[in-house]
Amino acid sequence: MAVAARWVATARNIVVLTGAGISAESGVPTFRDAQTGFWAQYRPEDMASREGYLANPAMVWRWYEYRRELVAKVRPNAGHEALATFEKLHGGDFTLVTQNVDGLHQRAGSADVLCLHGNLNAQAWLDTPRDCCHLDWAVAGDPPHCDRCGNLVRPAVVWFGEALPIKILGRAQHAAEHCDLMLVVGTAGAVYPAAGLARLASRVGARVVIVNPAPSELDDAADLIVRSSASVALPWILGTGDGRIAA
Ligand code: APR
Repeated sequence: MAVAARWVATARNIVVLTGAGISAESGVPTFRDAQTGFWAQYRPEDMASREGYLANPAMVWRWYEYRRELVAKVRPNAGHEALATFEKLHGGDFTLVTQNVDGLHQRAGSADVLCLHGNLNAQAWLDTPRDCCHLDWAVAGDPPHCDRCGNLVRPAVVWFGEALPIKILGRAQHAAEHCDLMLVVGTAGAVYPAAGLARLASRVGARVVIVNPAPSELDDAADLIVRSSASVALPWILGTGDGRIAA
């Protein structure tokens, strides 16, 4: 971790890409760990898609309600907090990109979070909204819907097969192309284009540091691998945990 801390202290422009692993220690199950309890029988890939929603809207809606309720009960951990502190100290030279939809970075105090996959606590319409579709007037239910045209409310998250928010992805790619250090924290690196940001940074000559207790599909792109949990490694690497401030 000392090498990573030194790279942080000497870097000009840092990007951090996070995945579900940074929230694991807050109690939010990751995607590729076994789903817990009732949901263990379902694959997220089957539910987090338009087809999955249309096939069983009530069940998928309840899965998102379960995740919203779970996230509401947990708290950001030391990994989220270290990133929020670092942003305050190094805002101009720091970009935080997340695949997570749980909002824990924002609750830890990170102000400018590039959310590639949307926001679990926001809602949208499944089909293009008509004049009669107002989220505030949606009829309650599993799922809520428009009482005029029947349009279904959906979570404002990016489902498999859907495009990422183009402006946010563009900002993330620009940051990856212009950084000299990228920390890749708590992601299996299995889902693109998010995982491609690490390869993009590596291609332009940035140092890539992976923080993950287990192997990931991005390990081959790493200049350094820190086999540790995010909540332990990030305060240390970012110099925000023990009062040391990265230069
Ligand atoms: N600290 C750091 N990493 C951790 C920790 C921890 N405490 N605990 C687990 N991890 C790592 C796991 O080893 C794994 O590599 O976090 C990673 C979680 O991987 P996934 O569950 O695949 O989550 P993620 O990579 O964020 O998934 C990307 O896939 O399902 C879609 O849209 C969804 O955003 C998600 C995307």
